[in-house]
Amino acid sequence: MSYKFFVLEKDNNIYRLIINAPKSLNSLSTELLNDFEKIIDEISKENVKVLIITGIEKSFVAGADIAEMKEMNYQQALDYAKLGHRVFSKIEQAPFITIAAINGYALGGGLELALACDIRIASKRAKLGQPEVSLGIIPGFGATQRLSRLIGVSLAKYVIFSGDTLKAEEAEKMGIVVKVTEPEELIDEAKKIALNIISKSFNAVIIAKKAIEQGIEMPKYEALKTEEILFASCFTHNDQKNGMSAFIERKKPNFE
Ligand code: CAA
Repeated sequence: MSYKFFVLEKDNNIYRLIINAPKSLNSLSTELLNDFEKIIDEISKENVKVLIITGIEKSFVAGADIAEMKEMNYQQALDYAKLGHRVFSKIEQAPFITIAAINGYALGGGLELALACDIRIASKRAKLGQPEVSLGIIPGFGATQRLSRLIGVSLAKYVIFSGDTLKAEEAEKMGIVVKVTEPEELIDEAKKIALNIISKSFNAVIIAKKAIEQGIEMPKYEALKTEEILFASCFTHNDQKNGMSAFIERKKPNFE
C-alpha cells in the first residue's frame, strides 16, 4: 500500500517507516496524523517485531503543524491534542518495539513522537527541543508527561521552560537519546539494535516492555506485584524452556 506522507519498508520482521512530508519539514498535520494512525493499526496486525521510525533530509519531525494550529479555537486545539495523544499512545503501546532514528529536527511534536518510542538514537545532525513556549503554548502531544518521566522533572522543566534547541550530544547526556551516530550510520545503527533485540526471545522482550510501561504508572509495590505475575507468565511459553536448556547445554537458543 502507498501512503501520502510515509514510505514503509519491510525487511522480514524489521520495518522502517520514513516520514516524508518535506514541504513542512514533516510537521504533524491532522491529515498526516490520521495516516500515521492507520499505518500503526495495520502493521500491528502483521508479524513486525521492530519498527524504526525516521524522517527525511534535515528533519525527523519539526513539530505539530503551526499553520494549521494558528487559527484553532479551544475545541479544535483539544481535538488536535486528543488525536496526537491517541496516535502516540498507540505507538507507545504497540505490540512491537519502536526505535526513533532521529535524523534531523525533532522539535515540539517531533520530540514527543520520539518520546513515545521505546528507544531513541540520534544523528550528530539532530536538533531536539520543546519550543512550544516560544509560540505561546505548551507541549500538547505528551512531553510534559513523557519527558519528565524519562529524564526527571527538573531537566524536563529546563527543556520545556527554556524552549532551547539541544544538540544530539546534549540530549544524550540528559538521557533523551541512548546513542549518537554519524549521520550516514544512523539507520545501520538502528538496524543493529533491532537485530540484537530480535535475536532474543521476542515473547520476553514484549513482556518486559509491558512490565515497564504498566509499572511506571503504578505505585512501586503494586508494580513489583505486576512484575511477579509477568515474570511467572514467561514460564508458560516455550522460549523459557528453550532459553534455559540452551544455556545449560551451551547451545544457541532456538526461540519461537
Ligand atoms: N509547522 C508547519 N510548517 C512548518 C513547521 C511546523 N512545525 N516547521 C517548518 N515548517 C515549514 C516552514 O513554514 C517552511 O514552509 P515554507 O517553505 O512554505 O515557508 C518550511 O517548513 C521550511 O521551514 P524553514 O524555512 O523554517 O526551514 P529552516 O531550515 O529555516 O528552519 C526549523 C527549520 C528550525 C525547524 C524551523 O522551521 C522551525 O523552527 N520550525 C518550527 C519548529 C517548532 O516550533 N515546532 C513546535 C511546533 S508546536 C508543537 O509541536 C505543539 C505540540 O506539542 C502539539
